[in-house]
Amino acid sequence: MRTIRTRVIKVDPVNPDVGLLRSVAEVIRSGGLVVFPTETVYGLGANAYDAKAVIKIFKAKERPIDNPLIVHINSINQLVNLTSEQPEEMFIIAKKFWPGPITVVLPKSKRVPKEVTAGLPTIAVRMPAHPVALKLIELSGVPIAAPSANLSGKPSPTTSEHVIRDMYGRVDIIIDAGETLFGVESTIIDLTHRPPVLLRPGAIPVEEIEKVLNIEIKIPAFARGLIEAEKALAPGLKYKHYAPEKALILIESSNYSNYEEYARKVMNITQDYIKKGLRVVILASKETSGYYMSKGFKVITLGSRRNIFEVAKNLFKILRIIDEMNVDMAICEGFEEKGLGLAIMNRLRKASGYNIIKV
Ligand code: TXA
Ligand code: MG
Repeated sequence: MRTIRTRVIKVDPVNPDVGLLRSVAEVIRSGGLVVFPTETVYGLGANAYDAKAVIKIFKAKERPIDNPLIVHINSINQLVNLTSEQPEEMFIIAKKFWPGPITVVLPKSKRVPKEVTAGLPTIAVRMPAHPVALKLIELSGVPIAAPSANLSGKPSPTTSEHVIRDMYGRVDIIIDAGETLFGVESTIIDLTHRPPVLLRPGAIPVEEIEKVLNIEIKIPAFARGLIEAEKALAPGLKYKHYAPEKALILIESSNYSNYEEYARKVMNITQDYIKKGLRVVILASKETSGYYMSKGFKVITLGSRRNIFEVAKNLFKILRIIDEMNVDMAICEGFEEKGLGLAIMNRLRKASGYNIIKV
């Protein structure tokens, strides 16, 4: 399905050229598809009120039509139009975190086409904190429905190269604004339940949201990436996700702080695969990569355990790199499920296809 003539437009991420974005907004308004940057990952957008345009998103991504989209807004007024109820928590979250990488799920209004929410009575909404995204929504004059701009099943795109690889020939415009900031998607909170439920851990740690709401948020096992989600709760979570073509094995531990001991266990497992004749790369933290290198293992460094932000930012890029490497499989270190670590482990468990070894 590579038939559309795609225009790639370079835009400054901080001071976008408004004239250029005006012409892009025109494409949104006339029912076209536009890939645009957000602070998390690139999104594949269309006018949220145009059912025909929204259907094109699913085709371009090869996304199952029962997996609903996130709608991006630039004003609370748009949120009120998209939803039929606005609980107090929503305003608290909006005030504290928006624009920013947190998505709220609320009852939808009648105006929203069923294609956007895959027939669900609820809608996921967020106000992105990227100057290009905000300006584009403003100039379009409509909310923009946008999933991550990857082909379904692939890691979300954090650079324009990823987007061009997946979406060239499938969309009208790709805005190239360099690398995204966070590298993992937004945190999704379902506000239709009491207490609120975490549907997907993301760029904003759940602990921070709990502090602001002064309430304990429910974290179901699927949000940790431990089991598949129930269809009714978070449909998108039940599909193959973030996965490289090559096999990925995740080595989890209840204690990562004794670096040397953990690294020794990872090396033993890796050695077993190498003995079977497989070429293996280890995806490691900065703290342990030296051990592996000194023993002659092939290593990619994800980032430091002491700066987990770095690991999140590099994660999807590195999951894509594995497929281009001269290896048969990857063995990946685990991370503590604290702060951004929860989002990282959710993505890694899914990317591994639940191929997890506990040490
Ligand atoms: O950071 C992000 O959230 C990025 C950028 C582009 O904004 N977007 C993104 O969208 O990650 P996507 O489609 O890749 O993930 C959206 C997730 C899916 O898992 C979907 O099932 C869930 O949101 N979702 C959407 N609407 C929902 C709803 N009404 N109820 C429950 N889950 C919903
Ligand atoms: Mg996605």
